[in-house]
Amino acid sequence: MTETETAAVGIAVDDGIAVITIDNPPVNAISQAVRQGLIDAMAEIATNDAVEAAVIIGAGRMFMAGADVREFGKPPLPPTLPETISAIEASEKPVVVAIHGVALGGGLEIALGCHYRLVAPGAKLGLPEVSLGIIPGAGGTQRLPRLIGFEAALDLITTGRQAGAEEAAQSGLADAIIEGDLKQGALDFAKRRIGEPPRRLSAIEAPKPESPDFFAEAKAAVARRARGQESPVKAVEALEAAILPFAEGVKREREIFVELRGSDQAKALRHAFFAERAVAKVPGLDDAKPRDVAAVGVIGGGTMGAGISVAALRAGYSVTLIEADVGALARGRENISKNLDGYVSRGRMTEDAKADLLGKLAASVDYGALADADLVIEAVFEDMDVKKEVFAKLDAAARPGAVLATNTSYLDINEIAAATKRPSDVLGLHFFAPAHIMRLLEIVRTGTTAPDVIATGFAVGRKLGKVSVLAGVCDGFIGNRILAHFRKQADYMVEDGAMPWDIDAAMEAFGLPMGPFKVMDLSGLDISYAMRRRLAPTRPAEERYVAIADRVCEAGWLGRKTGRGWYVYEDGTATPNPDAEKIVIEESKRKGITRRDFSPEEIQTRILYAMINEGARIVEEGIALRPLDVDMVEIMGYGFPRWRGGPMCAADIIGLERVLADIRAFASEDAYYWEAAPLLERLVAEGKSFSDLNGG
Ligand code: 3HC
Ligand code: NAI
Repeated sequence: MTETETAAVGIAVDDGIAVITIDNPPVNAISQAVRQGLIDAMAEIATNDAVEAAVIIGAGRMFMAGADVREFGKPPLPPTLPETISAIEASEKPVVVAIHGVALGGGLEIALGCHYRLVAPGAKLGLPEVSLGIIPGAGGTQRLPRLIGFEAALDLITTGRQAGAEEAAQSGLADAIIEGDLKQGALDFAKRRIGEPPRRLSAIEAPKPESPDFFAEAKAAVARRARGQESPVKAVEALEAAILPFAEGVKREREIFVELRGSDQAKALRHAFFAERAVAKVPGLDDAKPRDVAAVGVIGGGTMGAGISVAALRAGYSVTLIEADVGALARGRENISKNLDGYVSRGRMTEDAKADLLGKLAASVDYGALADADLVIEAVFEDMDVKKEVFAKLDAAARPGAVLATNTSYLDINEIAAATKRPSDVLGLHFFAPAHIMRLLEIVRTGTTAPDVIATGFAVGRKLGKVSVLAGVCDGFIGNRILAHFRKQADYMVEDGAMPWDIDAAMEAFGLPMGPFKVMDLSGLDISYAMRRRLAPTRPAEERYVAIADRVCEAGWLGRKTGRGWYVYEDGTATPNPDAEKIVIEESKRKGITRRDFSPEEIQTRILYAMINEGARIVEEGIALRPLDVDMVEIMGYGFPRWRGGPMCAADIIGLERVLADIRAFASEDAYYWEAAPLLERLVAEGKSFSDLNGG
């Protein structure tokens, strides 16, 4: 046996087979050392007469997560990944890759450069580059269609989704699934290939597209889904180049890859990738040990309580639901059961699995049933008196050390905590509707929440599969506070001359899945109406108030549930409500406003800047730890286009100087609303950007 090592790639030769092990923890990212190590390994295999075939395998929990994303913003270091893969593919001795865990991006491209692909049963294979704003840049768009055809390749590459082992074996992406010991299985497989000519995907003639209009249709369909994101559309272009000879196709692929790698969208998507992981890293919490949570109590089985219960059951917790009376309890159970039906009907859960989960659900009207709960999440009506009463009862019923959480959207959690004798055990766990589907969780700390209680919130969030973001107490925390400003700005523009559907169209073109007025129709206009009435006594007299939504609501048009709101809902289509339009025009007239036109760009800019300005205040006040926390809340909870990186990242990309100058110009029309956030002023004065506040 001979053995040579570079830092990240090892070779051991055993009985004629070289085992090349990639060992670059934590995810075997393809750093420069890995690329160089692979090239060196291939050179050694070529010259070592004792080697007749090779197996490439990953050490640790996965094969490879792909190119090292941390190298992207920096000058490329040789050798390139395409060179590395060419060296593997060129081997005259058969090269077999053995995949466990994931083979993603460049990791799968390396696998496509090998002559045979074997997968462990749980393996997942994918080309997620589009979600980083790029395309596969090392032959993936050229080799994959040669292996599995254009249609299947288009699906994987433009969605970035991961194929499981079964699918990979069926499509031909994998040659076999190895049950049992993967390395031994790969060694046996490689031995059987000794002496066979290498199978090189680059040597296969390009397949024919499935239909003459295949690429034109694919481009149109992908562009519709991508909502402004460039990379999936460019990926179709790269795939189309696979009809050319391989050398020309990879050249075109590389050009597109390099062009996208430096783009603003790629920068924003990289920011989102790292921000999604950074939000869980809270300075000062390193020593806090989360409390053990196995049994979860949920108080209130309405929209949110039922969703939270389902999220908790699916994550493996036992759940005890508490409701105000037996009728509501039965409705709560029914809500939970219906949520689970959603999984069953989509084939994502069997009836048996649903029955198992419901077996872990207890329900009671007696708070005594919460005596064993480790965590209790309250989701009753949004009313301070009701919440205080519930927390006082909970205080009496819950065991010492239990974590007590509220799902309130806006209320002061300090005040809720003060209804108990253990305010340090109280925090906010703010879920988003539907709570079993939406991935955002705001973890709200009060002035008194204990560090280990916050750490417990993060641990539970992780188990629930959520992206958790720490927030402080204020009206609306991070997300709903920004939403309030977003909506205020939209209302101002409607009163000044835009129509609600103009705003919706502009914001959908910006990349939101649904415009704000359609969202209001969906959730019911009465909800924001109630909130405006709650805030009326404390609203500053000098603040501009737009009464249009109140009048629409008072007319009984509450949105979809009444068939009419900002839009009229008939036969499954939404058309602008002419009566709402009349109200808009009357209200502008009543205020003496001369209505004017707003271009889509102006609508987008004003709304984005309102979000940025409020986001800056939220960071400055310490409600959000960093700008990246604001970005994650907006992306994960409010449909802010990920490819814009969130509002704070978008501000950096535009340039803070320009943002500030525009805000100052808006302030000349409405000084009260458009006062620039002091943090924004300071960053511009210091020549800094929001990203400077994000830390390492
Ligand atoms: N490069 C650099 N670092 C990476 C990385 C990558 N490709 N993938 C993950 N990491 C880092 C994470 O940032 C994290 O670092 P941290 O501990 O400092 O926060 C650490 O590795 C662990 O990652 P996760 O917390 O995400 O671990 P999980 O086990 O939950 O997930 C994973 C593992 C499924 C591999 C997930 O990390 C992932 O999806 N990674 C990105 C995969 C990807 O997009 N690859 C394509 C890269 S682009 C490419 O290959 C271009 C090519 O075509 C030329
Ligand atoms: P909902 O009205 O659908 O459900 C509230 C439930 O609480 C009802 O089933 C009611 O019977 C029950 N309840 C009321 N008083 C109770 C008591 N004393 N003891 C036990 N149960 C009691 O309301 P929804 O929408 O689920 O909201 C609940 C909370 O979640 C509110 O604080 C709301 O602000 C918050 N929230 C709501 C979101 C949404 O989109 N609906 C999003 C995020 C938070």
